[in-house]
Amino acid sequence: MGKKKRIHIITHGCQMNMYDSVRMREMLAAEYAWVDDPEKADLVILNTCSVREKPEKKVLAELGRLRRWRKADSRRVLAVSGCVAQQMKATLIEKAPQVDLVMGPDNVKDLPALLSELAENRGLVAARFDPEGFRLKELEPLESFGSDGRVSAFVAVQKGCNHFCSYCIVPYVRGREKSRPLEEILREVARYGEHGVREVTLLGQNVDGYGADLAGGVDFADLLRRVAEIDAIRRIRFVTSHPAVMADRHIDAIAEVEKVCEYVHLPIQSGSDRVLERMRRGYDRARYLNRVARLRERVPGLAISGDMIVGFPGETEADFRETLSVVEEVRYDSLFSFIYSPRPGTRSARWEDDVPKQEKHERLQRLQELQKKLTRDSNEAERGSVQEVLFEHAAKKGAGDLSGRTRRNKIVNVPAGDEWLGRFAPVRIVAAHQNSLRGERVDES
Ligand code: SAH
Ligand code: SF4
Ligand code: F3S
Repeated sequence: MGKKKRIHIITHGCQMNMYDSVRMREMLAAEYAWVDDPEKADLVILNTCSVREKPEKKVLAELGRLRRWRKADSRRVLAVSGCVAQQMKATLIEKAPQVDLVMGPDNVKDLPALLSELAENRGLVAARFDPEGFRLKELEPLESFGSDGRVSAFVAVQKGCNHFCSYCIVPYVRGREKSRPLEEILREVARYGEHGVREVTLLGQNVDGYGADLAGGVDFADLLRRVAEIDAIRRIRFVTSHPAVMADRHIDAIAEVEKVCEYVHLPIQSGSDRVLERMRRGYDRARYLNRVARLRERVPGLAISGDMIVGFPGETEADFRETLSVVEEVRYDSLFSFIYSPRPGTRSARWEDDVPKQEKHERLQRLQELQKKLTRDSNEAERGSVQEVLFEHAAKKGAGDLSGRTRRNKIVNVPAGDEWLGRFAPVRIVAAHQNSLRGERVDES
């Protein structure tokens, strides 16, 4: 075999994109080796996200930075994938002529064919863009899955979204909700297990809706129970949960299946019923708090994270205070908060974006200050406890440390040799920081 070409993928956005990037890399693994520096690659793929803030501008700026690299050698290939590519399609080609290939999320499976097409005919290739053109073939387990030594892997269980929250672009760029057949998911998870993966995160924009579109009456609870039957997998996570769709049956499965970790990402988006209504979220504050209460009652020690939007059209200071109060009430372990950004084509983009920019930033800051304290409290509370950690990779800082996560999804850095990678160990938490914990291995005896 000749020398392999080199690939680099830049990934933005949600776990769906991360999953797609892994698939692209693995589909091409026979021909391309990974390089960390895009400048050294023969193929660079920019996998884009359009969910917030001027994505188009950002993508064009990033492509501008890759222009010199692309122009330096005519054999190089610059590809754009993901949700911005899906949305911009042909305009992207007009605005960034250095791009060779533009493809939507549903073209991931076609990547090898698109690259050969490109090699044969050095013109630009724009792939088919059809958010409904989801074919099951794209998600079949690949031979090389897990071959890169990963111990924790994402597995898509669903694509798209039916919710059409008034602010959100996702249903437009990813199409309607479609569940993957259970057997296919199980095969993929089992294959990962054979390759050393010990933890899987099941991905969907609304995992609680899993199975609704499948014949055979399986739901999210069945999914959790069936994945848990795969011996090699010792931890199961899932994201994202939806407060309106999360049924008691799902909570029961989270509580009863030992392998399912004590961590739920349950976005609320606003604490104000008036705002939630206009966001078309399909629940009110009381329903949200009811789900949290039930989860906490059934799953002792549950960690909860959420998403919040500030500065939604029409959001008053009083509405925003409801947001602060719900955060205090839930006491999130962590919270992702965003400034509202109108997305073209969505319902709320037609409404006046009337909260002044300055005000939006101030609200975001107030919210983040509150959460900073709650996160800190949540981390402090771990101190002194002994927790099971799965060691995933070398720590970013601290030579000789490995980084892993607890079942509650807290990052812990621990002095440990590489032989611990991919293994579980009980760890005593000795220090709590803002974004991570520090621990020491406790001898198993
Ligand atoms: N399916 C998930 C969310 C996916 S998008 C859910 O319903 O919770 C991830 C997060 O981006 C959302 O939870 C929301 O907080 C944020 N977001 C989405 N659209 C946005 C917009 N137009 N402006 C600002 N934040 C947005
Ligand atoms: Fe977007 Fe709402 Fe679907 Fe989440 S549930 S992806 S916020 S439309
Ligand atoms: Fe972004 Fe597309 Fe995910 S818009 S959040 S990458 S579904």
